[in-house]
Amino acid sequence: MKVRKVGVVGCGLMGSGITQVCAQSGYRVVVSETNDEFLNKGLASIRSTLTEDVARGKLSPQGKDSILVRIKGTTNTRDFSDCDLIIEAASENMDFKKKIFVELDRICREDTILATNTSSLSVIDMAMVTTKPDKVLGLHFFNPVRVMSLVEVVRTIVTSDETVEIGKTFSESLGKSVVIVKDTPGFIVNSLLIPFLLNAICMLEADIASKEDIDTAINLGLNHPMGPLMLSDLMGLDTLLLVADAQYEQSKDPKYWAPPLLRKMVTAGWLGRKTGKGFYEYAL
Ligand SMILES: NC(=O)c1ccc[n+]([C@@H]2O[C@H](COP(=O)([O-])OP(=O)(O)OC[C@H]3O[C@@H](n4cnc5c(N)ncnc54)[C@H](O)[C@@H]3O)[C@@H](O)[C@H]2O)c1
Repeated sequence: MKVRKVGVVGCGLMGSGITQVCAQSGYRVVVSETNDEFLNKGLASIRSTLTEDVARGKLSPQGKDSILVRIKGTTNTRDFSDCDLIIEAASENMDFKKKIFVELDRICREDTILATNTSSLSVIDMAMVTTKPDKVLGLHFFNPVRVMSLVEVVRTIVTSDETVEIGKTFSESLGKSVVIVKDTPGFIVNSLLIPFLLNAICMLEADIASKEDIDTAINLGLNHPMGPLMLSDLMGLDTLLLVADAQYEQSKDPKYWAPPLLRKMVTAGWLGRKTGKGFYEYAL
C-alpha cells in the first residue's frame, strides 16, 4: 500500500510538527484537534514556522503556500476515513489514546495503518482495542520534528512485517533515519536517556557536585551539546516525571525510579524552561 494521504490526531507540539513535515514532503494531511481554539493555535504555529523559513530564505512564499494548501484542519474524526496512514499525537494518556484508536478503527478503511507517537506507553495496549492490531505500530518522532532526523519504528508482537515496512518507508520519505525497536518501555532512546537524566538529578540531590559542574562535565567530557539538567529543563520536568513514571509502571525497573527532588520541583510548578524556572532560571 502506498501512503498518499496522512492523518494526524492532535495538533500540539508534536502533531503540528508531524503535520508540517508530512505536508512539506508532499503528502496531503488531515490534522484534528478537540476544539477550534486548539486547532487554530496548532495551525498558527505551523504557519509561523513556515513564515520564519521564508524570512530566512529557506523557503519561497509559493513553497509555503503549496505546503499550507495540503493541510486540512478538522475537529471531526470522520475526516480521517480516507487516510492511508494515521499518526496519533494526542496527549500522553492511555485512556485518551485507547478511545482514539477505537474510533479510528471504526471509521477507517480495512488497510489503513494506525500509528502512535507515544514516548512511553505500551503500543500493544492501543493495538488490541482495534480489530486489526497487525496494522498498528509506533512511529516515535523527536522534538522539534522538522529538525530531529530520527524516527523509532516500534513493532509489537502482533505488528505485521508489511506494516513495519510501510512505517519505515513512509518515515524515510520524510527525510528521517529509521531504527526498528520492539514495543518495550522507552524504546531505544528514552530507555537510555531517562535513567541518565534521573541519575544526574540524584547526583545533584546527593550534593555530589553543583548543577553547573554536572552539566559542564557531560558537556565537555562527553561532548554532549547540553548537560542533563539543562536538557531536563528543556524537555519539561513534568514531562520527564510522566515518562519516568510510565516506564517504571510498565517495567518495575529501578533505573526509572524518579528522585524526590524531581517530584518536589514538579509539585512546586518549577517545570523548566516553559515556566521560567527549573534547575536554572529563564526569561519568559
Ligand atoms: N513533547 C515531546 O518532546 C514529545 C516527543 C516525542 C513524542 N511525544 C509524544 O507525542 C504525543 C503528543 O505530545 P505533545 O508534546 O505534542 O503534547 P501536546 O500537549 O503539545 O499536544 C497534544 C494535543 O493533543 C490534543 N488532543 C488530545 N486528545 C485529542 C483527541 N481525542 N483528538 C485530537 N486531539 C487531541 C490536545 O488538545 C493537545 O493539543 C504524546 O504521546 C507524547 O508522549 C512527545
